[in-house]
Amino acid sequence: MGLSIVLVSLLLANWVIASEGSDISFDQNYKVTWGFDHVLSLNQGREIQLSMDISSGAGFASKLSYGSGFFNMSMKLPDKDSAGVVSTFYLTSHSNNHDELDFEFMGNREGKPYTLQTNVFANGQGNREERMLLWFDPTANFHTYGILWNQHQIVFYVDNIPIRVFKNKRNVGVEYPSLQPMQIEGSLWDGDSWATDGGQTKTNWTYAPFQAHFQGFEIGGCAALDNSSIQQCYSPNYWWNTEKYWKLDPGQQSEYENVRNKYINYDYCSDRHRYPIPPPECLDDQ
Ligand SMILES: *[C@@H]1O[C@H](CO)[C@@H](O)[C@H](O)[C@H]1NC(C)=O
Ligand SMILES: *[C@@H]1O[C@H](CO)[C@@H](O)[C@H](O)[C@H]1NC(C)=O
Ligand SMILES: *[C@@H]1O[C@H](CO)[C@@H](O)[C@H](O)[C@H]1NC(C)=O
Repeated sequence: MGLSIVLVSLLLANWVIASEGSDISFDQNYKVTWGFDHVLSLNQGREIQLSMDISSGAGFASKLSYGSGFFNMSMKLPDKDSAGVVSTFYLTSHSNNHDELDFEFMGNREGKPYTLQTNVFANGQGNREERMLLWFDPTANFHTYGILWNQHQIVFYVDNIPIRVFKNKRNVGVEYPSLQPMQIEGSLWDGDSWATDGGQTKTNWTYAPFQAHFQGFEIGGCAALDNSSIQQCYSPNYWWNTEKYWKLDPGQQSEYENVRNKYINYDYCSDRHRYPIPPPECLDDQ
């Protein structure tokens, strides 16, 4: 009896967290992890600004780890000349064979567009980059970037439009994030060794400090303390685990195809130089 009361209150606690909306301040769910003097709290903690200059960037992480959820963050990226500057929003497990789901926004010279790179690591294996341009200027306003993670699929969203789907294909031997909880993180850092034109276009420090803004610190996720407690996060009591979220509906599927046709400019699945034999997750549903 004691156990079921604890379980019910855990579920209720999660539901309350998920439904409180945007009144949640940064400090309630997140903590700064590096570059402490490069982080500014705005609007009673409902917004934070990360800065990067030649001495440091900055980063933050959720206080808890999660085993499933529909995570999102609103971001406004550094404007003007942002070549070499990388802004991120991602989930990661920090283990030796880690799982990680990445949004990486790679800055550019003034007037040239940002590139959004996504990647998926499962049990330590990544190398699954996709890159695209955006249909708006991500430096002009806040836009929402989302990650759905359940045991059927991982979906990356830009303003509620699905841009990438990674299906659970364990049935054909592809590792899938399932065994380890992940933290939610964000950062602003100098990636000029690789980010812009493959590292040839460098950060111009005369434009520093570069600034990225983050909002939306509510977390729609199932908190899990460690590997051994992740399975409770597969429960259908969480809305993001219900059948509606097992695959894209026809409307989302058509938005997804439309956006990908127009904006994807690199997909590891079609890089035959790198992968003469396409990785198994790239093959059509079987
Ligand atoms: C959790 O599981 C992952 C994947 O199996 C493993 O790499 C990691 O070491 C585990 N962590 C702990 C604390 O046992
Ligand atoms: C950096 O920007 C300044 C101001 O536009 C310019 O004068 C300078 O040449 C740039 N430096 C590099 C290395 O591109
Ligand atoms: C972000 O996720 C939270 C929690 O699931 C939800 O309440 C909120 O509406 C979402 N925001 C956007 C802009 O999608």
